[in-house]
Amino acid sequence: MPKIIQLSPHIANLIAAGEVVERPASVVKELLENAVDAGASKITVEIRDGGMTFLRVTDNGCGMAAEDARTAFLRHATSRTAEDLALIGTMGFRGEALAAIASVSRIELMTKTAGAISGVSLMLEAGQIIEETEAGCPEGTTILIRDLFFNTPARMKFMKSDTVEGSRVAAAVQLQALAHPEVAIQFLRDGKQILSTPGNGGLQAAMYCIYGRDCAKMVKVDSRWEKYSLTGYITKPTDARPSRSMQTFFVNNEVQAAHLRFGGSLPQPDHGWKIPRMCAPPHHSRRDCGCERPSRQD
Ligand SMILES: Nc1ncnc2c1ncn2[C@@H]1O[C@H](COP(=O)(O)OP(=O)(O)OP(=O)(O)O)[C@@H](O)[C@H]1O
Ligand SMILES: [Mg+2]
Repeated sequence: MPKIIQLSPHIANLIAAGEVVERPASVVKELLENAVDAGASKITVEIRDGGMTFLRVTDNGCGMAAEDARTAFLRHATSRTAEDLALIGTMGFRGEALAAIASVSRIELMTKTAGAISGVSLMLEAGQIIEETEAGCPEGTTILIRDLFFNTPARMKFMKSDTVEGSRVAAAVQLQALAHPEVAIQFLRDGKQILSTPGNGGLQAAMYCIYGRDCAKMVKVDSRWEKYSLTGYITKPTDARPSRSMQTFFVNNEVQAAHLRFGGSLPQPDHGWKIPRMCAPPHHSRRDCGCERPSRQD
């Protein structure tokens, strides 16, 4: 029988990271979710080289005190409440995104809470804090991820070209912009502004920034029943497209893998642009809403 050994925390982190952090787009998704959770009304995402060498997310959310900032990079570190924890089954909660990202990159974090005299700046390499200093910075958090997968060459080999990875990041930012039209989201790729949503809460305004004026032809859906609601926009059957790639379906602001189809009486193809948002009480699972959770990378 081979001898059983326990993996070191560093190796365990790298394995966990492989699951959470597949590519720059998955990093952006996690960082955007954190910024939204921090109550940000404005978030800027900047990438260079498809996000592989430089990926920065700046928010004006609640920020973190120095001690919290240090703790945030430990596995299973979270500020979620016991009530949130009760929703693990439906929210896919794990509390390890930052630890996972940190273990496979170099990070510079600057953060300051409202009313604090100064903020804190942390530098991490492969999950270890290598420098901590006091910093004069605006309220909120700026997190810069450099050299993603510098210490996991096997993962690095799976990366596509910077153009492909950058486009995946753009798609991830677009999804979060549609999920959170109440947040002004700006996206810069190699110094060029690609997206800027107004953050006025209107889904149509966010859609316009992403899809252009064609989305003006879409039809509004607004249906409510007890604690459930189905809202959003769908295309008319006559404007349907042969691909489902432009469909986005949210349940309680989370992107879902499910796709919707028009009824059977329509000629093929029956795929339209659809951006429905279903709201259900949080304890209702995706299965109750007729869809499965996409993988963490989606
Ligand atoms: N931009 C941010 N502003 C303020 N606090 C943050 C920010 N990003 C992370 N944090 C803090 O760090 C903690 C850890 O973040 P992490 O993403 O690792 O886990 P989580 O968001 O709690 O859970 P999940 O695994 O679902 O992402 C958060 O709970 C939050 O307290
Ligand atoms: Mg998170």
